[in-house]
Amino acid sequence: MKNTVKITDGITWVGASDRRLALFENIFPLTDGVAYNAYIVRGEKIALLDTADSSVVHQYLENVESELDGREPDYLIINHMEPDHCSLVADLMARWPKMQAVGTAKVPTLIKQFFGADISDRFTAVTDGDSLDLGGRTLHFVTTPMVHWPEVMVTYDDRTKTLFSADAFGSFGAHHGGIFDVDHFKNPAFEGEARRYYTNIVGKYGPQVLAALKKASALDIEYICPLHGPVWHDKISWTLEKHAAWASYTPETRGALVVYGSMYGNTASVAARVAREIAEKSGCEVKLMDASGTDKSYLVSEAFRLSHIVFAAPTYNMGLYPPVREFIDDLEALWVRGRTAAVIENGSWSPASGKIMREKIAALKDFTLLEPTLTIRGASVDESAINAFCDAVAASLGA
Ligand code: FEO
Repeated sequence: MKNTVKITDGITWVGASDRRLALFENIFPLTDGVAYNAYIVRGEKIALLDTADSSVVHQYLENVESELDGREPDYLIINHMEPDHCSLVADLMARWPKMQAVGTAKVPTLIKQFFGADISDRFTAVTDGDSLDLGGRTLHFVTTPMVHWPEVMVTYDDRTKTLFSADAFGSFGAHHGGIFDVDHFKNPAFEGEARRYYTNIVGKYGPQVLAALKKASALDIEYICPLHGPVWHDKISWTLEKHAAWASYTPETRGALVVYGSMYGNTASVAARVAREIAEKSGCEVKLMDASGTDKSYLVSEAFRLSHIVFAAPTYNMGLYPPVREFIDDLEALWVRGRTAAVIENGSWSPASGKIMREKIAALKDFTLLEPTLTIRGASVDESAINAFCDAVAASLGA
C-alpha cells in the first residue's frame, strides 16, 4: 500500500518507518523504531533525494513508483552515503538506466566500497555553490562534511525554501499519525529521543555541525527535511536552537546528573542520598541513573542536557567498575566538554576507582573537577563527608 505525504509544492515524502529494528547501528536501543525519510522533488525534471534502508525497500519502492506514475526520474541526489540511506542506489541506477546521480566527489568511491557498483559514468560531482536546474525550480548544494560522514552535503530548493538536511536535525522514532514536527511533538518522549539521536550519532562532530548551522543561517528556510525523524516546519526555531546548544556542548539546564555503578547496592544507596541532598540544597534538577541498568546512550543524552555530572563507582578488579568506565569513555569519544564533575569512590582493601575517575575526568576537555571526593568503604561513609560533598556540588550549582 503506498504511503506518501505531500510536504509542499512539488515535494513529496516517499520514505518508510522500520518498527522492528531493535538496535540502531546495532548499538543504540530503539523503543519506537526509526524513520528512513526520502523525498521526490518535481520540476519539469524529477529528482529523488536519497533512498532508504534495505529493511523498508518494498515500501520505499511502492511509494516512489506511485509518485512517478510510469515516468523515469532524471536525477538521484545523494546527500549521504551511509547504507541506511543508500542501500538501494545501485539497484535504482540499474532500474532507471537514464537516471543521473549527483553528490559530492567522495560518493562514487563509497558506493564502490559498499555495494561494488561503479556509477562514475553517470555521476556528477558537485560542491558548494553548484546547483541543478530542474525546470521551474533549482536545487542548490552545500557541503557539510562530517555531519556525519565526510561525503555529506545538504540540498536547498529555492522555490519552496526547503532544506534537505541529511542526518542533521534527525531523530530516533518511527512516524505515527504524521511526519511533521507538530505530529511528533504530540509524543512526550520525542524531545528526549531527538536529543539521544543527536548526541550519540552526531555528537562527536559539534564543530562541523556549527559550521553547517552557519551555512544554513544564510538561507531562508521554511521546511527542513532530514533523513530521520520529523519534517520540520512549525518548530524550526526549536530545532535550530537545540542544535546550536548541542553542537556547542552548552548545557540546556543547570542541574546534576548522578551516574552510579553499584554491585551490592551500597554505592547506589549513597548516590541516591547525595542526589536528594544536592536537589534540596541547590533547588536544581537532579537526575539519578544506574550505569549498569541504563543504556549508555541515555546517559550521554543527559550529560549533554545537564551542567554537572556526579560519577559514583566502586573499585573492580583493582580498577574502575566497567559500566562507569565505559560511560566516561563515551564522553571522551563524543568530545563532551565543559561540564562540572564530582566523584564518589568506593573501595575496601585497595580502593582505586576514585583515582582512575579523577584521571579520566582530567582528560575530558574543559571539565572542572570539584573537591572533595566522597569516599565510601564498602557500606561505610562518614555523614560529615556526605554533607561536605553535597554542599560543594550545590554551591557550584549556585545554591
Ligand atoms: Fe542515518 Fe549517517 O545515516
